[in-house]
Amino acid sequence: MTGLVTAGALAARLARAGCVAADDEAAELLATTDDGAALEDLVRRREQGEPLAWLVGATTFCGRRLAVHRGCYVPRGQSEPLARRAADVLPAGGRLADLCTGAGAVAAHVAGAVPSAVAVGTDLDPAALACARANGVRAVRADLAGGLAGGVFDVVTAVAPYVPTADLAFLPSDVRRFEPLAALDGGPDGCTTLRRVVEAAARLLRPGGTLLVELGGDEDEVLAPTLLASGFASWSTWHDEDGDLRGLAARRD
Ligand SMILES: C[S@@+](CC[C@H](N)C(=O)[O-])C[C@H]1O[C@@H](n2cnc3c(N)ncnc32)[C@H](O)[C@@H]1O
Repeated sequence: MTGLVTAGALAARLARAGCVAADDEAAELLATTDDGAALEDLVRRREQGEPLAWLVGATTFCGRRLAVHRGCYVPRGQSEPLARRAADVLPAGGRLADLCTGAGAVAAHVAGAVPSAVAVGTDLDPAALACARANGVRAVRADLAGGLAGGVFDVVTAVAPYVPTADLAFLPSDVRRFEPLAALDGGPDGCTTLRRVVEAAARLLRPGGTLLVELGGDEDEVLAPTLLASGFASWSTWHDEDGDLRGLAARRD
């Protein structure tokens, strides 16, 4: 039945609804179902702004196809540099703790790139934990690092909520309407959870271990006192192609 719908017509419809990558999205939706009514339902939901990854049940992250369950934060391309850095610094047989793992994208990439590694993800959201497990990640329900052993991890990663509460209003309306607030809201200065991540990482990491976090704005400066007080004497940051701050790497002394 979907043969009656051409990729071009579907892409034009998605473009009219504001989808930027309409051709790619049309191809993904067409590949999802052979049933015309089911396709129409998916297209209508996409036109309403529901994330494509929820509709097709998957996204691509660091070249890997990952399951994304409805209700779960959709892993972003902007987090790929963090995942690749984690894989680069993790020694063979090393241990990774991926706090705020969501669908488990970072942990799944690291586990795939360093097969001898031991990776564990934590999250508070049962939907995220189920999704991470579907992606092969050992995922435990915890408030950040609660319950994880201290001093044994080589790398701690976190794509934690870091949007300042007042800036949530400026996120794309689809993100605000569909994606979980608990995945995004970083509190008054964006760093409420990030400060706790830094403190947790100081406990989890062995000396010489690496903390990698995603952040934005001037959050590196906001986090500096917490980093210093937690035993991270030096750190570096990376930026995206627009020059915006995207991540911070710190070494545990
Ligand atoms: C921005 S999403 C990132 C998910 C994933 N790391 C990724 O990059 O796709 C943040 C995640 O942190 C989780 N989260 C928020 N606060 C948390 C906490 N205190 N402890 C554990 N997980 C938390 C949310 O449920 C959400 O899945």
